[in-house]
Amino acid sequence: MCGIVGYIGLRQAAPVLLDGLAKLEYRGYDSAGIAVYDGKDINITKSKGRLQVLCELTHDGEKLPGHVGIGHTRWATHGEPNDVNSHPHFNESRSIVVVHNGIIENYASIKAKLIEKGYNFVSETDTEVIAHMLDYYYKGDPLEAIRKVMHRAEGAYALGIIFKEKPDMLYAVRKDSPLIVGKAADGNIIASDVPAVLKYTRDVCFIQNGEIAVLSKEDIKFCTIDAEDIQKEFTKIEWDVNAADKCGYEHYMLKEMFEQPEVIKDTLGSFFEDDRIVIPGVSITDEEIKKISKIYIVACGSAYHTGVTAKYVYEGMARIPVEVDLASEFRYRDPLLDKDSLVIIVSQSGETADSKAALEEAKRRGVRTLGIVNAIGSSIARDADDVVYTLAGLEIAVATTKAYSAQLIAHYMIALKFGLIRGEISEEEASDYIKDLKKLPDQVEMLLNNREKIQHFATRYAAAKDVFFIGRGIDYAISLEASLKLKEISYIHSEAYAAGELKHGTISLIEDGTLVAAVLTQEELYKKTMNNIVEVKTRGAFVLSVTNEGNTEIEKISDYNIYIPQTNKYFTNSLAIIPLQLFAYYVSVGKGFDVDKPRNLAKSVTVE
Ligand code: F6R
Repeated sequence: MCGIVGYIGLRQAAPVLLDGLAKLEYRGYDSAGIAVYDGKDINITKSKGRLQVLCELTHDGEKLPGHVGIGHTRWATHGEPNDVNSHPHFNESRSIVVVHNGIIENYASIKAKLIEKGYNFVSETDTEVIAHMLDYYYKGDPLEAIRKVMHRAEGAYALGIIFKEKPDMLYAVRKDSPLIVGKAADGNIIASDVPAVLKYTRDVCFIQNGEIAVLSKEDIKFCTIDAEDIQKEFTKIEWDVNAADKCGYEHYMLKEMFEQPEVIKDTLGSFFEDDRIVIPGVSITDEEIKKISKIYIVACGSAYHTGVTAKYVYEGMARIPVEVDLASEFRYRDPLLDKDSLVIIVSQSGETADSKAALEEAKRRGVRTLGIVNAIGSSIARDADDVVYTLAGLEIAVATTKAYSAQLIAHYMIALKFGLIRGEISEEEASDYIKDLKKLPDQVEMLLNNREKIQHFATRYAAAKDVFFIGRGIDYAISLEASLKLKEISYIHSEAYAAGELKHGTISLIEDGTLVAAVLTQEELYKKTMNNIVEVKTRGAFVLSVTNEGNTEIEKISDYNIYIPQTNKYFTNSLAIIPLQLFAYYVSVGKGFDVDKPRNLAKSVTVE
C-alpha cells in the first residue's frame, strides 16, 4: 500500500524523503513523488514508475532544496497510475500540499460539493479532495482546518500536510492507516513504517486514530481531533541496523527465508521463563483458559493459512474446537460467538484492514480477543485484549516467509500451554513436544542449506502453466501456503486441493505433464495421499513429493522427492514449507521477476 514520509529539520529534506521512500518500497507502489518547501514556493516532482525515476528527475533530491517536505509512494486505488494521480496533491493556489495513505470513502460526494463551490480538480484521486477541503476550511489556523477535514472525511487515512503560510511546520494525521513519528537529533520525521526513519532515529512514537502530530525542527506536539493536547510516549526501536538491508543476499525474500532458524528460535524462546512455559505478555488467566468453549482464528492470506494448520494443533493438543475464518468473510458473516470463545487475530503487519475490522467485530460482540502480531505498536497489537508478538523482526519482501514461520511457532506454543492448563497434555508429553520444537531451527537450517535439489527442480519447472498442490489435514494447510507463495511471485496459476477432494471435479484439469506437488507429512494419511498420487499419475501428471525422511516407498510412484527431517506430526508445517518456499523463490528468479515486489501486490493491505 502507499507509503508516506515527511521531514522537517536542519538537513535538506529531499534526500531524506527519497531515502525514506526507498525503505518503504517493500509496501508496493506504482508511482512516487515528493514536495519540498524552499521558503518561497512548494515544489513538487512526481512520476509514474520506480523510485529510481524520481531520483533521476530530482538529481537525487538536489533539484528540490528546502528543509521541510513530504513524499509518497502510491499504490493506485482511485485513478490509474500516472504522473497526475501521483501524490503529493496541491490545492489550486499551491499553498497547501498533501500526501495520503488510505481511502476517503465519501470522496465522491465531497468532490461534488467542492465542484459546486467552484473548485477544479486535476486528478482522479480521492486524495485531491483533502487538499481542496483543507483550502476551503483554512482561515489561518491549520489545526482547525485539519480537524474539520477529519470530521468530514470518512474511511481510512494517514496524511502528511504542509501549509505555505506555516513554513516551519509539518502536520501529520492518522485514522486507520499507520503513521509514526520519529524524533532525531537534527529534525523530525513522519513515516508509514519504522524502516523509513531508522537511519535517522530509533525514537519512535505511534500515532493513534484521531490524533494529530505537529512537527517543527526542534519539537513535536500532539493533539486530538477534539483539540485536546496530549502527551505521547516514544518507543526505542531495537531492530538490528541490518534489518532493512539485503546483507549480500540477492533478494530480501532469500535473506528472510534464511533468517527463519533464528526467528523460530527467538519466538520459541519468548514462551519460556526459566524453563517454564508462559504465553508472554498475556493477561488471560488459567481459569479463563479452562473455560474457552471455542477458538476462532481470523486472518488473511498466509496468516490465515497458519490458522488452517493451527486448527489441527489446538484441537489436537488442547481439545478446543476451532473455526478458521478469512477476516474479510468473518467481519460480514454475523458470526455466532459464544461468550466463552476466544478470537485469535493473526497478522504480520497488524494493520490489515479486514483483520482489524474482524477484531473490532469480535470486540463489539464482547468476546475476548488475542492478537498474534509481528509489528510492534501496530493497530491490532494495541486493540486486541492481549497480544503475543512473533519475533520475526522487519519483513520486507512482499511474500511472507519468516513471519509465517514465527506465527506457526506462536500457535504451537499457545496450544501447548492451553493443553497443559486444561489437563489435555501431561508434563511428559509437553516435554516431548518441546524437544521437537527446539530441534526445528537446526532442521530448518539444514533444509535451507540443502536447497540445490529444489533449486534444480524449480529451474526445470519455471515454464509450468498450472501447478496443483495436494495434501490432507495439515498437509492441505501446507499446500495452501505453498500454492500462494508460488502464484504470488511467479505468476503461475496454481491451486491447493485437499487430496481427497481432487476427484470431485478438479482432476479433470490434470493432463500429460501437469505438475502436481504432493505433501505427505502426516503418517496416518500417507497411504491415502499416495493413492491420490497414483490417480494423478494415471492422468499423466508429473509429481513432486515432499515427505518425511524414511518414506522411501514414495519413490515408486512419485517423480521427484524432497525429504524433511522427522518431527512431531503437529510441527511438520514448519519444515515442509521450507523447500516449497524455495521452490516459489527459484521459479520467480528463473523467470526474471521482481521477487520482492510482485506485481499488483502490497506488503500491508490497509484498505478493504
Ligand atoms: C502472502 C502474504 C499475504 C499476507 C496477508 C496478511 O505472502 O504476505 O497473504 O499474509 O496480506 O497480512 P498480515 O499478516 O500483515 O495481516
